[in-house]
Amino acid sequence: MKKLVFPEHFWWGAATSGPQSEGNFKKKHQNVMDYWYAKAPEDFYNQLGPDTASDFYHDFQEDIKLMKACGLNTVRTSIQWSRLIDNLEKNTVDTEAAAFYNAVIDAFIANEIQPFITLHHFDLPAELLHKYGGWESKYVVDLFAGFAEQCFELFGDRVKHWFTHNEPLVVVEGGYLEQFHYPKKVDGKAAVQVAYNLQLASSKAIAKYRQLKQDGQIGIILNLTPAYPASQDKEDLAASQKADLWYNRLFMDASSKGEFPPALVRLLEEEGVLWQTDENELALIGENTIDLLGVNFYHPNRVQRPRYSPNSLAVDFLPDKYWQRYDLPMARMNIDKGWEIYPQAVYDIAKDIQENYGNLPWYISENGMGVSREERYLNAEGIVEDDYRIQFIKEHLYWLHKGMSEGSNCLGYHLWTPIDCWSWSNAYRNRYGLIANDIHTQTKKLKKSAHWLRKTAESGQFEIESAIIKE
Ligand code: BG6
Repeated sequence: MKKLVFPEHFWWGAATSGPQSEGNFKKKHQNVMDYWYAKAPEDFYNQLGPDTASDFYHDFQEDIKLMKACGLNTVRTSIQWSRLIDNLEKNTVDTEAAAFYNAVIDAFIANEIQPFITLHHFDLPAELLHKYGGWESKYVVDLFAGFAEQCFELFGDRVKHWFTHNEPLVVVEGGYLEQFHYPKKVDGKAAVQVAYNLQLASSKAIAKYRQLKQDGQIGIILNLTPAYPASQDKEDLAASQKADLWYNRLFMDASSKGEFPPALVRLLEEEGVLWQTDENELALIGENTIDLLGVNFYHPNRVQRPRYSPNSLAVDFLPDKYWQRYDLPMARMNIDKGWEIYPQAVYDIAKDIQENYGNLPWYISENGMGVSREERYLNAEGIVEDDYRIQFIKEHLYWLHKGMSEGSNCLGYHLWTPIDCWSWSNAYRNRYGLIANDIHTQTKKLKKSAHWLRKTAESGQFEIESAIIKE
């Protein structure tokens, strides 16, 4: 056994988002996910939509008490733009929505949980997509900065940790390259502009925050992962370097160093798809970098040389022309979800931030294990015995701890998610929660992992079996 001890003020927490937990009660606008579900319910697992989600809108007082019972000292959720703002063009506040978010924030604080707030978690108001092309439009970028400013003014007296976007790369990939999120386009040039506009929106929101001179911190949540090459062959290494630029460095460099990676800019220029920009915007991005980084990590990325020559003829630009995904043979898997399990990546990320990004303060903002039909693991007392999740958390914390013991400036670990919640097209398929939710009755009950986490958070330490660590 090996004992791992974490710092006294470590953030033991969990993350969710407004659209995935609240339910659509009293919302005046649809977000893109609501719109997509209304249009094509068959795209969603068991055709279940976000209407009720985990009913946080009505249950938040009780839900937050349950989160407290899991030992959480910090929780991230998001404020829905499509709920808070009643006139999207005029940026006016819906008073009932503001009262709801005020009550939520107060309930967190009353339960000694610091609320962390995300401003955009895949939930652009649908109207802005229809009228202006969504994130392809710089007008929408400015509207977002206005919404962010409203949030800071309304809630910044109590919220001290803000995040502009959750996983902006997923918006780009899902919506503009791989069709797993609405608007389900395949358009490399649009994808590049959306990536840039999302960065600009983040930087503009940060600029608003700085102008208000509030006493908190602001950052971004990125899904970072090293792009491990399939082999040390020249072609696989080149593929991994290009994938790394796109998957990791694009938002990481722009958000933390204020500059897009020059090698990526050159490549996009050569391809004739570089984003439309100007000096003022680049200066604004340069000046408004983050205070704090959240890293979402679920599974590693592995890549190999591309299938075709990048010089093939009449091929539209898509970033993955420079690599292809690679499945490690005999990989250790979460078979149910189809994702590789590779906790060592957390250490690699910790070292990368330490060595290449000035040891920026950061935390794991999402990590977790999605499993379907968890009723399979109910014990006689009706508790989900999710030992696999406890092991998953322990192994990731082991590698995080190792990075921290070598000096990486990591402040916390948040699990996805406190209460089983709705998720985009996967709806309720994958359960990630510390707290099980029967979605038919909205009955919520702590899983075994929640009890483990409470003990760990209270003592700030746990023991891990040496046998499960293979360095
Ligand atoms: C994360 C997202 O990437 O993955 C969450 O930030 C999402 O919003 C989570 O719910 C899990 O997704 P899924 O589709 O596996 O349930």
